[in-house]
Amino acid sequence: MERLIVNDRIRTSRIPARLDLAQSGTGLVLGLFMWVHMLLVASILLGKGAFNFVAKTMELSFLSDTGHGYPSAVFFAVLGVFSLFIIHAALGVRKFPISWKQHTIIRSQMGMMNHSDTNLWYWQVVTGFIMFFLGSAHLFIMLTHPGQIDPYLSADRVFSSTMWPLYLVLLVCVELHGTIGLYRLCMKWGWFGGKDPVKSREKLKMIKNRATIFFLVIGLLALLVFFIIGWRHSDRVGEPYNSGHTTVEAPAITGTQPEAVTEVESSEAAPALSGDHGKPDANDHRTANEE
Ligand code: HEM
Repeated sequence: MERLIVNDRIRTSRIPARLDLAQSGTGLVLGLFMWVHMLLVASILLGKGAFNFVAKTMELSFLSDTGHGYPSAVFFAVLGVFSLFIIHAALGVRKFPISWKQHTIIRSQMGMMNHSDTNLWYWQVVTGFIMFFLGSAHLFIMLTHPGQIDPYLSADRVFSSTMWPLYLVLLVCVELHGTIGLYRLCMKWGWFGGKDPVKSREKLKMIKNRATIFFLVIGLLALLVFFIIGWRHSDRVGEPYNSGHTTVEAPAITGTQPEAVTEVESSEAAPALSGDHGKPDANDHRTANEE
């Protein structure tokens, strides 16, 4: 309950507490979403085929008998995440030290207390502020290009559209903000609290640090692989990935029904961490030693 004096009258309201609850709720959903998102994006480490399978599955391609996806499914997923992102940001700015006075007080208290959780909160503010801009840019691109997610088109975005610097900074910000946020939620609402609060805080902090390192490492490796694919694909920017399962209908010569569908296997290999990078792709006109 918060109290406020307006025209000499004391007003109390539960709204601030409810806004805190909404901020925790949207933060929890976005934090868990980011862990799943990073695992899905990191499927590129298992090869182009794996990433393409994930991208098509996200497009609900399993619902169509031809295997083509529904980009509108990704559009609505991005719309949902973008809306949550904006609501969470709007709730978050309430806590920002917006004036010089507030900022100086916070910094001097941090210096005096040197309390790690207070310092973590400050990093929440800094990374949150940066994500206002970089997260929105990424989400807007995803919202307007929902059908443009495949190993080549994503790699072209990273390399040829020079998105890698944005992703690099965004990756560090979102992994810090997300894991610190989930840790602070556990502290704030007493989740996973054991009999000994000091011990459970240390344990949660250890899990937070390991999760941050894990997601940063797979995120950086994925970005590196996208960068290499994009660099090698830079002479064919915009050419989508061909999964190799194309259905070819024989031309109806005799006017009767088209002949049976023939499957064509392409030998497209991925320069992923499955130890075959450096081997020239079937489609890659340049051989490894020309690079
Ligand atoms: C439903 C919403 C989202 C979708 C569909 C999505 C999709 C993707 C895709 C396909 C990539 C691979 C690169 C590309 O194709 O350009 C990617 C990378 C990335 N996304 Fe998202 N994203 C979403 C939301 C977010 C949010 C909310 C954030 C953070 C605020 C975020 C942060 C990142 C980062 C940091 C990378 C680079 C990953 C790496 O290191 O390889 N994404 N995202």
